[in-house]
Amino acid sequence: MHIVFGVSEYFPLVKMGGLADFSGSFTENLAGLGHKVSVVLPGYSVIDRNRFNVESTGIRLSIPIGKKSVPGFVSRIRMSENLSVYLIENEDYFNREHLFGTEDGGYEDNAERFLFFSRAILELADRLGDVDVLHTNDWHTSIALFYLKEYYQKLGKLTGVKSILTIHNLGYQGLFWHHDMHLLNMGWEHFTPEGIEFYNYINYLKSGIVYADEITTVSPSYACEIQTAEFGFGLDGVLRSRSDHLTGILNGVNYKLWNPWFDRNIESRYSRKQFGGKLANKLNFQREMGLAEDPDTPLITIITRLTEQKGIDLILPVFDMMMELGIQFVMLGTGKNEFEDFFRGAEHRYRGRVASYIGYSEGVAHRIHAAGDIYLMPSRYEPCGLSQLYAMKYGNVPLVRLVGGLRDTVTATDRGIEQATGFGFEYYSPYTLYETLNSAVTLYRENRETFRKIARNGMKLNFSWSETVKRYLKIYKK
Ligand code: ADP
Ligand code: GLC
Repeated sequence: MHIVFGVSEYFPLVKMGGLADFSGSFTENLAGLGHKVSVVLPGYSVIDRNRFNVESTGIRLSIPIGKKSVPGFVSRIRMSENLSVYLIENEDYFNREHLFGTEDGGYEDNAERFLFFSRAILELADRLGDVDVLHTNDWHTSIALFYLKEYYQKLGKLTGVKSILTIHNLGYQGLFWHHDMHLLNMGWEHFTPEGIEFYNYINYLKSGIVYADEITTVSPSYACEIQTAEFGFGLDGVLRSRSDHLTGILNGVNYKLWNPWFDRNIESRYSRKQFGGKLANKLNFQREMGLAEDPDTPLITIITRLTEQKGIDLILPVFDMMMELGIQFVMLGTGKNEFEDFFRGAEHRYRGRVASYIGYSEGVAHRIHAAGDIYLMPSRYEPCGLSQLYAMKYGNVPLVRLVGGLRDTVTATDRGIEQATGFGFEYYSPYTLYETLNSAVTLYRENRETFRKIARNGMKLNFSWSETVKRYLKIYKK
């Protein structure tokens, strides 16, 4: 098959979170099975063009946006024989410091930027030819599915193309006020609750949900949750109406990158059978971060976008109580100012016991998993979550809120120590988080053997891409 895969992040070219990990590994595995995969990505200026071989395709685009005709051109990076990443280049839209916006919110012209990008995906698909499947991801590319059905196919173009939308996060929808309708150059008859309207706003993600042939999301539990008012962000009704075409498929892990036995980012390699090396990583990391070097102090870790989604607001009120458990704490992340400030402050208040790395670093992320004893992920909602899967591979025992993909991937101790791979709680409250951490730390102190058993159980798991890709292929074939 020839699959055109539209996405807004792609590892190793540009990454904000798990979406990049997903798109990089998924397409690599798909192409590895012999399918032709054409990834389409915005030509962000933050992509390091010296590191990758960016060639010109000679393809020029002219995309109608309102009364304007916006020019763009297409470059290409060949990742492997069957896999190319096409960059949609436009200085005005993509030469910016950030991908989507600043701390204060999305860029003012995001409606335009991602309309341009989404229409460019279709234009490119048309030029490349012989496309079987158009696979889009999240709100940034969803509006393409509306144009595919209501514009291209009505003109007799791209008629054989079937479409898939994968929802990685329902919390971001691409909502724009109705005055932006003029940018779309499509009639107002589409601006209805059955179409792309959402309470008097244009909703890009919803347009994808309405127009996709098939919809997937990144875990079975999340596929159920998003059909309820609690997790549906207002789209639960429309998702329920499409439930016959909605499937939850768990993400895989790229174990070539995330495996402590091969990892070049860490000091000392280790595995489930040769667990000893983990201690060397812990001591080395404590030194690196200015924490007291102590093998027996439980090191609690978190690597995260600092947003409401990740349950950071549960940690703040009980942080001092957590520290009274005699732990060390390390946080790697960026995001909301208020949260960044808190962790900066915490490092000052607990010198030698708390390390806050405000920023983004792939290398530090790997070293944290290699050093850590417990990995916190108390998410408010979690479509899949990859961090807990990486944590488990590194014996950094996850402590999670049992929701979405976390529920599907972590077996908590209350289901029996023998098979447990982590600690879990359900009720969304700071004190429940604290209590769960308290019991995890107590187990670490009083019964290290059992704690290690849980760590080893997690290291044994295999969230392989081959299973995941097989499931997507089934949907493509359908
Ligand atoms: P989400 O995509 O919602 O952020 P995931 O758990 O699916 O959550 O994926 C998060 C990914 O982003 C992981 O690869 C994690 O290591 C990475 N990550 C998040 N914040 C940082 C950071 N500050 N530095 C390095 N990697 C980070
Ligand atoms: C989103 C979700 C995360 C998921 C990732 C990749 O960023 O928040 O749970 O793992 O997408 O699908």
